[in-house]
Amino acid sequence: MTILVTGGAGFIGGNFVLDWLASSSEKVINVDKLTYAGNLETLKSIQGNPAHLFVKVDIGDRAAISELLREHQPRAVVNFAAESHVDRSIEGPGEFIQTNVVGTFNLLESVRGYWDGLGDEARLAFRFLHVSTDEVYGSLSPTDEPFKETNPYEPNSPYSASKAASDHLVRAWHHTYGLPVVTTNCSNNYGPYHFPEKLIPLVILNAIAGKPLPIYGDGQQVRDWLYVKDHCSAIRAVLDGGRLGETYNVGGWNEKPNLEVVKTICAILDELKPRIDGRSYAGQIAFVKDRPGHDRRYAIDARKLEKDLGWKPAETFETGIRKTVSWYLENTAWTANVQSGAYLQWVEKNYAGRNS
Ligand code: NAD
Ligand code: TYD
Repeated sequence: MTILVTGGAGFIGGNFVLDWLASSSEKVINVDKLTYAGNLETLKSIQGNPAHLFVKVDIGDRAAISELLREHQPRAVVNFAAESHVDRSIEGPGEFIQTNVVGTFNLLESVRGYWDGLGDEARLAFRFLHVSTDEVYGSLSPTDEPFKETNPYEPNSPYSASKAASDHLVRAWHHTYGLPVVTTNCSNNYGPYHFPEKLIPLVILNAIAGKPLPIYGDGQQVRDWLYVKDHCSAIRAVLDGGRLGETYNVGGWNEKPNLEVVKTICAILDELKPRIDGRSYAGQIAFVKDRPGHDRRYAIDARKLEKDLGWKPAETFETGIRKTVSWYLENTAWTANVQSGAYLQWVEKNYAGRNS
């Protein structure tokens, strides 16, 4: 048997493919366009593994995707491929519409054509799992209940709006054409192989490089952090037992203000890799100009997934963040590679003019 994964050279997709092959011999066709966020270094340990086939293709390329589906006959497609960074979506929303909306539409059409042509048994067993975000639900006030699957969609950034649109397409392809879909809406992930444009890896790498740790606004925005391997186990649970047409919220029950996250990272680094001058890394914290339209709080109610499919996260924030900091300290070849080239231009562009 075979599954086809899109975006499997990115942060979550890469972790998913590595975890999958560590515990299963089922073949993975890994389709990724290799944008700035796609990184084959992440997949180095499975190079040459006959159960893994990497193909550089855009999810929007209908002919190429249809051909891959026809050739490999997967029993499932797991769609991670997306433009994923809110700040980049503010700088340039076009790519987000192209991949997250038009790309998802084209992928759905390729998959529908393939699924339509399957025999009865394979049609019944087939799944299209769409990986989405809690950001589609908008922003919570401090006293609001965490997001449930029934919350209305109220996306606020070009990124979350494009993901919301893709979720609606997936839903409609089920409702109208009967495509067997399930959707997961997950909170902020962190862990190994995370591209350092996002808060947690950026702070770890800036800290040890002696650079400022940029906190947008007052740093009191709250995110609900989930260790990436827990997200991967949730996706496997939904793939196995998720009810067709349903959505499942995935979260770690770890709501933290950004400033607290950054101070926690500093404290772990103070212990594991103390600064030469003996001072705390927290001294590098720098408050900078806020992100336009910055959502104040995200929080996930993951009880449906727990009740229906028995999923629970294995890591608390305390255990997961320690593992993550250690991983970045130990994997210097990966971090050096990822911080070269186009990454430097992004850092220059995003942080120029933010100083306050
Ligand atoms: P990422 O940016 O690290 O990786 C995205 C991957 O998709 C990259 O490898 C990139 O090359 C690939 N890609 C982009 N456009 C493509 C296209 N047109 N065709 C084929 N491949 C393409 O993102 P991530 O953090 O791994 O997120 C994966 C998915 O999970 C996304 O759909 C994202 O919206 C969702 N998600 C992420 C988080 C998070 O905290 N990172 C939280 C919730 C949901
Ligand atoms: P990020 O990792 O970009 O994820 P998202 O925007 O999808 O939640 O950001 C997490 C939080 O950290 C978010 O509230 C923005 C904030 N942030 C900073 O304060 N400084 C930074 O340099 C970055 C990249 C993010």
